Amino acid sequence: MINRKPLEASLAAVKKAFPKAKPKLGMILGSGLSEIAEAFEQLGVLPYAKIPGVGAAGVAGHAGRLVWGKSAGIETFIFQGRRHYYEGVGWEAVATPLFLLKSLGAKAVFLTNAAGGTNPKWKPGDLMIIEDHINMMGVTPLLGTHDPFWGPRFPDQSFIYDQQLRAALARAGKQSKVALRRGVYFAGTGPTYETPAEVRAWRKLGADAVGMSTVPEAMLANAAGLRVAGLSCITNMAAGILNQALTHQEVFETSQKAMANMKKLILQFWKELGRAGL
Ligand code: HPA
Repeated sequence: MINRKPLEASLAAVKKAFPKAKPKLGMILGSGLSEIAEAFEQLGVLPYAKIPGVGAAGVAGHAGRLVWGKSAGIETFIFQGRRHYYEGVGWEAVATPLFLLKSLGAKAVFLTNAAGGTNPKWKPGDLMIIEDHINMMGVTPLLGTHDPFWGPRFPDQSFIYDQQLRAALARAGKQSKVALRRGVYFAGTGPTYETPAEVRAWRKLGADAVGMSTVPEAMLANAAGLRVAGLSCITNMAAGILNQALTHQEVFETSQKAMANMKKLILQFWKELGRAGL
């Protein structure tokens, strides 16, 4: 269950720091992807430590700052670094970015992550449009007493990843000449990477990419009526696909190599969204 108090306190802190902010879009940057914010015009920066609901981000590769920025004329809140369920501090830190976005009138959120690829034909550095997800976390942030802020008691999830946004992302890929794959993102709780047997099983269940985030954010955003788009950076082949161990170092290094492509793609995506009148 999500405690509203720290979320309301976060909203007050952000309104105080950025009294004129009216973000139309939000973006959450996953592991190693914080640098993408530098491609945006910066209107303000607020460290997570000053946003009560989020607190200091605890994972290497996650910068831990809210950047109030703009690109293609679209005012955007960029969350440089995310909080995860596996950090064990509850759902508030995960939910706060969505709470802020919805409360300040944003229409959509773009979720990015680093993920393991389960398709042997794919390569580290590939980028995947998230078409749908499978929640293997065994929990959801919407458990507990119903809070109408997060939509109806039984949110529909037939169309979480907005079709128009997916099409705009695909167009941005073509225009920026960044190849894009598409597939299903599969979330476990982490913080362990998967076993090879789990990866084989999950692939059979429909996973194209495996990771430890994004799904709770997508569920909350969708329930609250925000449109959702998602992109996975395949930073490594999932466990057992190659005969080698997985490390956070590899995840981080691949995300750095993919950065130039991601920046190009995302700037073009914003242009597409601007054109589409978002
Ligand atoms: N599994 C889970 N999470 C991940 C992976 C992975 O292989 N790579 C990056 N995040």
